Amino acid sequence: MLFEVVIVTLAVRFVLSAGKCPGQAYSTPFNTSSPILTRQLNVFWSIYGTCEEKLDTNDNPFGDNPAWAEWDAIKFSWNNHNGYRDHAQATLSRFPINGIDGTTGNMSNGFIWSWMDSERWPDARGSHGSIASYHFDQLPRFPAAVYQYYAWTRNRTFLQTILPRVEFVMTYLLVNMNGSYGIPINRVNDGTPETSRPSTYMDQVKSGWKDTWVTMTFYTALTNMVELEKVVGNHNQMTFYQTLANNFGEIFDGAFWNESLGRYVGWVDRNGYQHDSGYVFINLEALARGLGNRTKADRIFQWLSEPADPIGIGPHNGSTDVYHNVLAARTTTENVAQPDWDGWSDPDEGRRPYGGLVESGGTMIWLTYYDIMARLRFNYTDEAFAILTRMLDRVDNDSHCLTFNYEKGRPQDDFGEDFVQIGSNFPFPESGIAVVAFLHGFVGVQAKIDGLYICPQLPSSLDFVQAQVDYDTSRLTIQIRKQNAPSIYHLTIPEQQLSVDIVPGACYNLSFDSSE
Ligand SMILES: *[C@@H]1O[C@H](CO)[C@@H](O)[C@H](O)[C@H]1NC(C)=O
Ligand SMILES: *[C@@H]1O[C@H](CO)[C@@H](O)[C@H](O)[C@H]1NC(C)=O
Ligand SMILES: *[C@@H]1O[C@H](CO)[C@@H](O)[C@H](O)[C@H]1NC(C)=O
Ligand SMILES: *[C@@H]1O[C@H](CO)[C@@H](O)[C@H](O)[C@H]1NC(C)=O
Ligand SMILES: *[C@@H]1O[C@H](CO)[C@@H](O)[C@H](O)[C@H]1NC(C)=O
Ligand SMILES: *[C@@H]1O[C@H](CO)[C@@H](O)[C@H](O)[C@H]1NC(C)=O
Ligand SMILES: *[C@@H]1O[C@H](CO)[C@@H](O)[C@H](O)[C@H]1NC(C)=O
Ligand SMILES: *[C@@H]1O[C@H](CO)[C@@H](O)[C@H](O)[C@H]1NC(C)=O
Ligand SMILES: *[C@@H]1O[C@H](CO)[C@@H](O)[C@H](O)[C@H]1NC(C)=O
Ligand SMILES: *[C@@H]1O[C@H](CO)[C@@H](O)[C@H](O)[C@H]1NC(C)=O
Repeated sequence: MLFEVVIVTLAVRFVLSAGKCPGQAYSTPFNTSSPILTRQLNVFWSIYGTCEEKLDTNDNPFGDNPAWAEWDAIKFSWNNHNGYRDHAQATLSRFPINGIDGTTGNMSNGFIWSWMDSERWPDARGSHGSIASYHFDQLPRFPAAVYQYYAWTRNRTFLQTILPRVEFVMTYLLVNMNGSYGIPINRVNDGTPETSRPSTYMDQVKSGWKDTWVTMTFYTALTNMVELEKVVGNHNQMTFYQTLANNFGEIFDGAFWNESLGRYVGWVDRNGYQHDSGYVFINLEALARGLGNRTKADRIFQWLSEPADPIGIGPHNGSTDVYHNVLAARTTTENVAQPDWDGWSDPDEGRRPYGGLVESGGTMIWLTYYDIMARLRFNYTDEAFAILTRMLDRVDNDSHCLTFNYEKGRPQDDFGEDFVQIGSNFPFPESGIAVVAFLHGFVGVQAKIDGLYICPQLPSSLDFVQAQVDYDTSRLTIQIRKQNAPSIYHLTIPEQQLSVDIVPGACYNLSFDSSE
């Protein structure tokens, strides 16, 4: 008897765990027709999403910092497991904003601080001495985060309480940064090698002036503001934001698309010079945010399939594969040009060779979210799914699920990669967004102010996908099954006694108009 039980246990283990990752699923929002994939998704979420599977780490699941506002929202707006959403949502009201609740600083009113307890980024050392940098990506991320929490919770009190802060921050972008004329202009960091400082989370890259990353997020903020103003009935404000959003795609393309390179550049400095080092993260995210079109997307995907500059360090030394880290695309296809590099956190021996650092040719797991969403937007469903499964298999193939603990003596993973080549766990809590692409993309569930939109896109190898979400005040189990082979999707939500067909390419919109 005992012998048989052991055999059965081993067999189940073998089926459910193809790899070496010993992680367990503490939270199980995902389910699919593949038991291995289901386990990998939930284990990944437990390690990198909720951080309940600690392995050898002490990680906290939240960024809890203005720069992370939107990433925390992508992680936690759709589920309130253990009250994590309540926590992340409440944190938004604690971000310091000049001119609110007695907060003052050296920047004008409406500037949201770069860090939770500091107006500037904590980079006051190295090449730029004791003077820290002002960052700007947190400004548009704040409205985008508020939108996500409101759309999922439909909590009017939350929206009415926080909207004045959001509008105050928007005023900074629109007036102080000239965003009401189109692209926000960062006059503090002018994007030139001579005088600029880093302006974003990519904190060794001297982007500034017309910053592509800040601008694409501003676009999201504009479209989100249209919806939020509609909810509270500010018709004039809604129209104003709508007018700015209408032509934004053309303005964005006109400033940042480089036709001879076939991609968006990183920024345009005060002298009008485009700075490009093959910024992969910029391009994938722009497409995922709805900028560009199929012609541009195909050029970008083509670029990512071609050989990039050879990596100069580590186990992938010499590789020209954009996906050499397997986990996710490299962040840049060229070494960030030296004049554009701010060496404030370089090691004592000097800047690491190309591929040696997440900001230049290394990778970060969060890129996979935007990579999947960009490809799904253009219906490259199986390619998108391959990116997800390669990431999950790579995590599964490592004895510590690709987590590092430098203090406890794990500076490298089983593949010889170190924690500054692949950004996985601490200090990268945003990594967890990568599997949210399963929810937003393949199950196809996104909240908008007028309801939950369910637009499934199943890869050819899956017949069934399921995600559990907390929407409004309900927990919903959203199930999509292929019916009559791949020709139609069947959606069921048992809690709503809902059972309907969806034609591939279409959406089902679940709205609760009565609760308005
Ligand atoms: C997950 O999906 C499988 C079918 O693929 C089903 O048998 C199982 O009951 C589901 N589990 C949960 C927790 O929904
Ligand atoms: C503003 O700048 C002054 C002088 O550089 C500095 O002492 C002060 O701490 C700054 N204020 C904030 C909120 O950073
Ligand atoms: C709605 O938001 C308010 C303000 O943020 C909060 O105090 C309240 O608990 C929220 N309500 C629910 C049901 O979460
Ligand atoms: C910002 O807008 C003002 C008012 O139109 C204009 O005078 C100024 O030149 C603009 N600044 C930049 C950097 O474009
Ligand atoms: C596009 O990139 C090429 C190559 O870096 C550069 O020579 C050209 O000036 C760029 N185009 C514009 C409009 O800046
Ligand atoms: C994409 O936009 C460019 C102009 O920016 C245009 O030439 C091209 O035809 C567009 N492609 C599609 C598929 O609409
Ligand atoms: C990487 O490969 C190049 C070319 O083969 C070699 O010159 C260099 O020493 C290698 N660097 C490291 C850090 O292994
Ligand atoms: C994971 O390991 C298996 C077994 O060694 C291997 O076949 C597979 O290619 C690996 N996958 C990835 C994505 O690393
Ligand atoms: C997306 O691709 C699938 C399979 O390749 C196809 O069946 C479907 O019609 C496509 N949908 C759209 C909207 O192009
Ligand atoms: C549902 O949402 C889709 C996607 O935004 C939209 O195109 C469609 O018109 C909506 N349908 C209804 C009935 O609201």
